[in-house]
Amino acid sequence: MSGAGAGAPDQYGVAGHPVAHSWSPFIHGMFAKATAQNLVYRLFDIAPAEFRRETLRLLTSGVRGLNITLPHKQSAAELVNELTPRAARAQAVNTIACFDDAKLIGDNTDGVGLVCDLEQNLAVTLQQKRVLVLGAGGAVRGVLAPLLERDLAQLVIANRTAAKARRLAADFGDLGPVMGCGFDEIDGPPFDLIVNGTSASLQGEMPELPVGLVCEDTVCYDMAYGSGQTPFTLWARSLHAKRTTKGWGMLVEQAAAAFVLWRGIRPDTKPVMEALEQYR
Ligand SMILES: NC(=O)c1ccc[n+]([C@@H]2O[C@H](COP(=O)([O-])OP(=O)(O)OC[C@H]3O[C@@H](n4cnc5c(N)ncnc54)[C@H](OP(=O)(O)O)[C@@H]3O)[C@@H](O)[C@H]2O)c1
Repeated sequence: MSGAGAGAPDQYGVAGHPVAHSWSPFIHGMFAKATAQNLVYRLFDIAPAEFRRETLRLLTSGVRGLNITLPHKQSAAELVNELTPRAARAQAVNTIACFDDAKLIGDNTDGVGLVCDLEQNLAVTLQQKRVLVLGAGGAVRGVLAPLLERDLAQLVIANRTAAKARRLAADFGDLGPVMGCGFDEIDGPPFDLIVNGTSASLQGEMPELPVGLVCEDTVCYDMAYGSGQTPFTLWARSLHAKRTTKGWGMLVEQAAAAFVLWRGIRPDTKPVMEALEQYR
């Protein structure tokens, strides 16, 4: 690990397909500058068929760490030598670290990123709350354990393919009160928090949901990030949700947790959030 001005910079990056839209170089660039870490951070567009070979090539030729994004998170869990407990739980990896012994450690910082954004940036209390999570893909796998560790009253996972939601609920049932269902099976009183972990927003779509899920105390969080409103935030606003927000804070906080794993130093996320404000 090298500080500022100490020879060649250490190499990091993000592997995905596509990856050109990623904000990670901007975020890690700001972290590195603020913490005086001598590193470069690049984009690596790697097609699924090439993922294993190309990622191992990068990590054995000097790249010390990678963020992993769509669609490689589950493949990355199979590639590393060791999983952190939270990555093992999720069976999905969004951060790989390669230390001096050449061992590859796979971590998942999506969940701590979401919970940190909710609790610290948005002052949302999770304890004893009813939470609805939409989706059952890689991102949702990563956030279930950190949410359930907050002693929720109930966690409902609802997905377009209901069987996937039910399977996830069974996999995480030992951590707290969790149930899985299809969108049309969601019932009960309005939720305290609704997290959209589907990729529907990226397609300009909104899952069809029953009425009565949102009241004026409901916080609605879309993991998707981009500029302007998403179909989900528009839906939540139309139902007068207490607050609607997108996943920029999660993105920055999961990056900070990856930076800690790689560099052993926690960057301040506030200046990065402020710098991203103009793009949100
Ligand atoms: N803010 C952050 O830091 C952060 C981090 C990670 C991910 N994300 C965001 O989280 C979202 C999900 O990512 P992922 O990696 O979990 O993707 P993924 O593994 O491909 O999972 C996609 C999920 O969305 C559902 N879905 C897709 N299109 C849909 C539609 N039109 N209507 C309803 N459901 C639909 C899928 O349902 P089926 O199972 O039925 O196919 C599946 O549950 C993306 O928007 C991504 O950008 C944000």
